Amino acid sequence: MPKEVMRLDKFIATHSAYSRSAIAQLVKAKRIAVNTVTVNKASIHINPAIDTLTVDGRVITALGEVYLMLNKPEGYICANKDAENPTVIDLLAQQAQLQQEELPLNTLQVVGRLDKDTTGLVLLTTNGDWNHRITAPSSICTKTYHVETANPLEASLVDLFTQGILLKNETKTTKPAHLKIHGPHQATLEITEGKYHQVKRMFAATGNKVVKLHRAAVGNICLDTSLQAGEYRHLTQAEISLPITQVSP
Ligand code: URA
Repeated sequence: MPKEVMRLDKFIATHSAYSRSAIAQLVKAKRIAVNTVTVNKASIHINPAIDTLTVDGRVITALGEVYLMLNKPEGYICANKDAENPTVIDLLAQQAQLQQEELPLNTLQVVGRLDKDTTGLVLLTTNGDWNHRITAPSSICTKTYHVETANPLEASLVDLFTQGILLKNETKTTKPAHLKIHGPHQATLEITEGKYHQVKRMFAATGNKVVKLHRAAVGNICLDTSLQAGEYRHLTQAEISLPITQVSP
């Protein structure tokens, strides 16, 4: 048996407040699932690096950390508190109440920020190391955006974005970005950096204007398209473990 495989009841007892006897009761009541399949024996073996374990639908992770994806609507800012605007944490608080779930709202960190008018994938976690691994300037983590522009997109932009462009108030060009043009005003852009307003500034540098911006993926973690705007879900164990970054040379 591979070393990382362990008994389900041992894993849950180690990483949550449930005792072994409470776990046995939960199994009996069919409240535990592995990869969405209901468990009928507390002694089964799982691989915590791969398997997603839930109690009443809540993911149990090693060390009890929480990892979420949110489909951010327009109008919310990516901060924990703000005097003027509703934040993604305010939104999570409302949604968690609807789902009758308690979230550690005071310790959740937003993993990389989106503008108030940008929609789509926002990751949140209580695990500062995981956050840092994705957002540190030394990490190369691809962010994928769907972009709609005011002016038509020229085919020559593809090469320009690959070569890198000089943004206003910067001294260095942007790292190679991958642009795919889908229509006169629609494109997908993949960037590996996270400069302030980067996507909008890249298009502005070419004389264009972004009128709609939606983040579809961060590294290999794609926004779950079953999430309506404003909804969140816990990441699966596989998503948490995905190798989403490289360290730049
Ligand atoms: N780039 C932007 O300009 N805005 C965002 O919200 C994200 C990336």
